[in-house]
Amino acid sequence: MHIRDDKSSKGLHHRTARPRQPTDLATPEAELSKLPYTNCRTRILNLKHLPDIPTGKDVSDEQYREIFQRYLDAKRHSSSFHANASDNSVRDEANKNAGLEESQLLRSAIQSLTTGIAPPVAFPTETVYGLGADATNGASIAGIFAAKGRPGDNPLIVHVSSVAHLEKCLGGTETDSAIPKVYRELIDQFWPGPLTILVPVPEDGKGVKFAPNVHPGQKTIGFRLPKSPYARFLIAVADRPIAAPSANSSGKPSPTTALHVKEDLDGKINFILDGGECKVGVESTVVDGLHDPPLILRPGGLSKRDLREWGIKQGNIWQHVQNGWEYKTGVKRKREAVTDTVHPATKTSKAAHNDSDGANVYDSPTIQTPNNEHSDLELESDISAAPRAPGMKYKHYAPSGRMFLFEAPSRCSIEARTKAVYDKLGELLNARKPEPNRAHGSPKKLEDEVPTHHLTIGILTSVSWPELAGLQEEWHQLYPAWSDASAPRHLSGHGPAHYSLSKPADVEGLPAKDVQLYGIPLGKDSESIAQNLFAALRTCDALSCEWIFVEAPSSGDASTEQDNEEFETVLERMRKAASEITKV
Ligand code: TXA
Ligand code: MG
Repeated sequence: MHIRDDKSSKGLHHRTARPRQPTDLATPEAELSKLPYTNCRTRILNLKHLPDIPTGKDVSDEQYREIFQRYLDAKRHSSSFHANASDNSVRDEANKNAGLEESQLLRSAIQSLTTGIAPPVAFPTETVYGLGADATNGASIAGIFAAKGRPGDNPLIVHVSSVAHLEKCLGGTETDSAIPKVYRELIDQFWPGPLTILVPVPEDGKGVKFAPNVHPGQKTIGFRLPKSPYARFLIAVADRPIAAPSANSSGKPSPTTALHVKEDLDGKINFILDGGECKVGVESTVVDGLHDPPLILRPGGLSKRDLREWGIKQGNIWQHVQNGWEYKTGVKRKREAVTDTVHPATKTSKAAHNDSDGANVYDSPTIQTPNNEHSDLELESDISAAPRAPGMKYKHYAPSGRMFLFEAPSRCSIEARTKAVYDKLGELLNARKPEPNRAHGSPKKLEDEVPTHHLTIGILTSVSWPELAGLQEEWHQLYPAWSDASAPRHLSGHGPAHYSLSKPADVEGLPAKDVQLYGIPLGKDSESIAQNLFAALRTCDALSCEWIFVEAPSSGDASTEQDNEEFETVLERMRKAASEITKV
């Protein structure tokens, strides 16, 4: 067909080739990852029905596959045996068939990982639940980004079922390892477990070909061998390296139960494999051993102290491991500046949370610079403008309510700690007073003194705050006319303490208002706090807490920074979730 090219032909129906725009070059995967799956029927499959899965370090992939085959055979056999038997009750039959159905659904879940035409599958690990897809299939990986709403530049961790599996992925063998030397003793010690190592992307023709969207913009891939036997079993049976971020919607707290996953991804994925509550509760520690000294790019389930102590014992380079996540990157961000506003009782740093730029980029409210000679800042020239772990620049773990974090050194008295909370409460309530009365100083009326609608506050305590941080008593001091609507009570065994206050309806003819206080104890040691933190933040969402007061844990007798060593991982998560940090 002839296309006329002269300018006078305006108005004629023809198309001329327009210059190619950069967006035209977008890969189909990038396009796919913008299309969330919808209308999936999300099912939770209970993995506790599986036979005992061995956990030992040396369990081979082949053993896991054999266990699965035997399990399927047994289910098929018991069902056909049952179908032929005449004396079983209808109810037994239903149960057997349910068992068969469960095994077939598990098979479908695994098949959807291997065929790569279905949404990703959520599965348990010992840290948090992951959202898995075949790391060699770009379209499947795009499905992860779509389901989570994850920014496309944030690389994924690839999960393997054994060290032999990692070797296979990298093109190595038992006698000729392709795993960088710096990691070999390390993984021998800490795998399976909450540790992710960065390894150069295998060259073309070596090992397996990873989908480029697993490691966008990175020359390395993060690998992890999880400790959860369910995770290893699943990966071995799928016989694929499985890329998996945490199975939450981007920005939300990571899920530590199957129900948390359902809260975020219901209708977007088909299968959630339920292995019970995650034992560790925070994500893996991401380390870069290709850097000298090695860096921790994300603190996690394996502590820096454990890494260093083991490195000292072995006399290897891991004794020098440094924090690498606190880099000031110099990236220009569309955010309000970090400001320090001095409050009478406390110094408050406001975290700049801003969703309006659409990228959910996070700015740390306080930027710390280690002062030893191997300071992280000295290494700064070594890094590009992007953070070494791109995920660390994104807003994370945030509950829907405003979270206020209170950090105090351990030498601080209980009175000073709780006073900071009461001052904050007073400040927040003050800010809720009706605008005109504040502006024009009209006579004091009751409604000036009280919240203007129902108010729910979550209080997450750790090592030293009393239950509810003593807020119920403080409330009586602030508003003596109010009465207790209920005595403190625990909602369930270890669940939140609930205390409700109300203003009587007949006071000055105003309608009754109420305040609900929910206290959630996180535990007193770093392991318990790690295990409970994300679930507690989700509970605050479920209770519609408008404000959430959180006690940052501290121990020891020195300065806050030293105090915090043991609590480094949970503090990093708390700081990221916080809207505001108050240094007491
Ligand atoms: O415990 C865990 O690590 C969980 C479970 C499911 O295994 N996974 C997890 O993945 O937390 P995700 O995607 O939520 O966090 C991965 C973090 C991000 O901060 C990402 O930027 C960083 O690891 N990361 C992954 N690959 C990287 C790479 N090649 N270079 C630098 N950082 C990387
Ligand atoms: Mg995550």
